Amino acid sequence: MLVSARDMLIKAHKEGYGVAQININNLEWTKAVLTTVQELQSPVILGVSEGAAKYMGGYKTVVAMVKALDEFYGVTVPVAIHLDHGSYEGSFKALEAGFTSIMFDGSHYPFEENLAKTKEVVAACHAKGVSVEAEVGSIGGEEDGVIGMGEIADPVECKTIAETGVDMFAAGIGNIHGKYPANWQGLNFETLKEVQDVTNGIPLVLHGGTGIPAEQVKKAISLGVSKINVNTELQLVFAAATRKYIEEGKDNQGKGYDPRKLLAPGYQAMKDIIKEKFEIFGSINKA
Ligand code: 13P
Repeated sequence: MLVSARDMLIKAHKEGYGVAQININNLEWTKAVLTTVQELQSPVILGVSEGAAKYMGGYKTVVAMVKALDEFYGVTVPVAIHLDHGSYEGSFKALEAGFTSIMFDGSHYPFEENLAKTKEVVAACHAKGVSVEAEVGSIGGEEDGVIGMGEIADPVECKTIAETGVDMFAAGIGNIHGKYPANWQGLNFETLKEVQDVTNGIPLVLHGGTGIPAEQVKKAISLGVSKINVNTELQLVFAAATRKYIEEGKDNQGKGYDPRKLLAPGYQAMKDIIKEKFEIFGSINKA
């Protein structure tokens, strides 16, 4: 059932669990998420970055694929198709194509410009019943082999952006995308508390879900995080399972080269990790 992310996050925030944003990259990823959420009766947000959308054949292809699979598998749990780190132009294109949720990431603009553009995106999305996520305090990650430390958001800026009426809000609290460096300091719970206080109980979003210890994620949920984004971890388990299959020579046995066989271990590995995340976030049977 395709819906905006608004109501599922309000419910999660009120009841104290987290909804996963699982980023999708292709058919296998989408099938793995949709079949698992239905089995476990968990709500979910499908994250689609602009790069992944382009890879899959554009926003309309993504919407058509998700809608058709949702129907094929008889999915009754709430599912949102969410643009991840959307540009200003990309936000309007994804909205037009039928995305049910949009993240406009204006964190790289000067603050006043982020604010003005977020307001425009909110007005356009809310007119169509589509939810919006905004970001303050850029969430970094590995670029050109250098892993940047996560930024810490300014709570005053968070308050101002939250007042635009966004449905969920990502603030940098030392989190980063991809793998964490060995000397990572952990999440900054002081900032998280402060951000939740000044933003009047808006559901908060934790980016960079891969590699954050479960206890820290649970603590973040208890302090107001209602959406946790996971991308890299699925890519890692998919690659490892596929590598094992090939290294064991299974693609050379019988028709082991058939993609339906070759991709099966990676597919199952993704389903397993999705289940593990839902257990940690507490979203099973919360649909
Ligand atoms: P990871 O790739 O670190 O799991 O982060 C995902 C994310 O935050 C997408 O916006």
